[in-house]
Amino acid sequence: MPITTRQSQNAPTRRLSIGKIIAIIFLALIFLVGLAFLIAWLTIRPKRLVYSIENASIQNYNLANNGHLKSDFMFTIRAYNPNGKVSIYYDKIEAKAYYDEEMIGFNTIQPFYQRTRNVTHMALNLPAKDVALSEVAARDMKMEKIRGRIDLEIKIKAKVRFKVGKLKSRHRTLRITCGPLKVPFSMNKNFDNTRCDVDL
Ligand SMILES: *[C@@H]1O[C@H](CO)[C@@H](O)[C@H](O)[C@H]1NC(C)=O
Ligand SMILES: *[C@@H]1O[C@H](CO)[C@@H](O)[C@H](O)[C@H]1NC(C)=O
Repeated sequence: MPITTRQSQNAPTRRLSIGKIIAIIFLALIFLVGLAFLIAWLTIRPKRLVYSIENASIQNYNLANNGHLKSDFMFTIRAYNPNGKVSIYYDKIEAKAYYDEEMIGFNTIQPFYQRTRNVTHMALNLPAKDVALSEVAARDMKMEKIRGRIDLEIKIKAKVRFKVGKLKSRHRTLRITCGPLKVPFSMNKNFDNTRCDVDL
């Protein structure tokens, strides 16, 4: 009887110390991995990408009585990569123009590579190619035409990869939303530089 009691007293302490060692190793690993991430983060220090619409105009506008729209919507997009260590591959870029939540124009932008701390300007035409507007949208657009500006929203979806040193990330989807933009009919009219929302 006394022997079994001694054993049952010793066994839990031994099990506990093994458990403690495992826990300490585990915590140390977590700490080291965390430290590695922190160091990587501090050296790379990713900053948010910045996009804005600098310039917008409407050309060749024609809204037929039956509500069919033909027009060119021209924009200049400014893309700024503020990062000193991260460069970006834009592998596929699709842009859409919306009026009253209705998609009226579509186009793609040439893939490009953006180096660190670079500003790139892109010309974008989002043509409406005989788009059938809803009755409400056609009526709204006629009124806005009289006022000289049309409220548009641009949505851009891009497949991007990031490059840090020799490392390249996997593809990620970048969503950029710009607007509502007050797009004037004349190129000479001032257009307010509009910052876009970025979702990555
Ligand atoms: C629009 O952008 C183009 C090129 O970026 C520039 O030459 C032109 O002056 C701009 N127009 C306006 C009205 O800002
Ligand atoms: C950004 O990169 C483009 C393309 O490589 C280049 O044409 C442009 O001059 C660069 N701009 C700046 C501000 O470095």
